[in-house]
Amino acid sequence: MAIKTGLIGSPLKSSLSPRLFNIFSGLLGEKFNYTLKEAGPPELGKAIEEIKKSGWRGFNVTLPLKERVFPFLEKAHKAAAGIAAVNAVLIRGGRLEGFNTDARALEYSLKENKARVGGGTCVIWGAGGAARAAAWTLAAGGAGEIHIYNRSYAKARALAAYFSKLFPRVRFKAGKFFSPVPEKAAVFVNATPLGMYAPLPKALKVPDLKTGLYCDFAYAPGGTPFLTGRPGKTITGLDLLIYQALASAALWTGRRLTAREIVKLKEKAKRLLCLDI
Ligand SMILES: NC(=O)c1ccc[n+]([C@@H]2O[C@H](COP(=O)([O-])OP(=O)(O)OC[C@H]3O[C@@H](n4cnc5c(N)ncnc54)[C@H](OP(=O)(O)O)[C@@H]3O)[C@@H](O)[C@H]2O)c1
Repeated sequence: MAIKTGLIGSPLKSSLSPRLFNIFSGLLGEKFNYTLKEAGPPELGKAIEEIKKSGWRGFNVTLPLKERVFPFLEKAHKAAAGIAAVNAVLIRGGRLEGFNTDARALEYSLKENKARVGGGTCVIWGAGGAARAAAWTLAAGGAGEIHIYNRSYAKARALAAYFSKLFPRVRFKAGKFFSPVPEKAAVFVNATPLGMYAPLPKALKVPDLKTGLYCDFAYAPGGTPFLTGRPGKTITGLDLLIYQALASAALWTGRRLTAREIVKLKEKAKRLLCLDI
């Protein structure tokens, strides 16, 4: 029987998730019935009631509900609670458990690329949900310093202060958006929509990292300007999108996938998705 699941949030019309779960139906040997359910904050409670009545195994959550879903959860797993955002929910015996698979996606990608996070300097552009997932993952991965640059400097400062309390061993620093970023960075993450829904301003300089890894949450057919022409390794927004969906699929199917299987499945899904978009 097909696993009933889907995505709630708004707007959803450009979501790639239904195509992705269709691809997973072929790759994982489990059929997913993945439905898009448009809901804003006022409709969230009713949408969850309907989902439970319809026997969904779980669901993904996107803007603007990633924080608003917390009051409906029985339990939030450690990363989701620390990041203060949930993007995947598992329903067990009518109870909702919240996870953050964006963080798991970055963790998988860093492993795949053998990133040397431990003790290193990491840079994040952005201070929204994706940036929080990145800050959590890099700090939990043992980063020495994390620099957060954001258009709204006050948000960068607030985020640096929040994570400094959660990870007292990591040095968090806030920066103004157009100021230069350290070239010694081991990992440089773009967690803004620049290159996806908005152009990358010419004045915003992406340095050539000596030995670093670039990672873009934004994705676009044909690639994004943050990653184009960079030396060294890159993690694309599509890699992250597919990994977060795979981590959600693993939750709903109860499948334990090895690190090798996860990379293989991501690569296969990416090839198929790129043929489709
Ligand atoms: N690949 C994936 O799997 C994946 C997963 C999650 C998110 N994403 C993508 O990542 C991006 C960020 O998502 P999010 O959930 O973090 O969104 P969010 O919570 O709304 O945060 C958006 C962040 O981007 C900044 N920003 C927005 N427009 C900007 C602009 N024109 N110039 C400079 N900064 C700008 C915001 O700065 P202010 O604070 O100054 O407004 C904020 O820091 C989105 O494009 C989203 O689609 C991709």
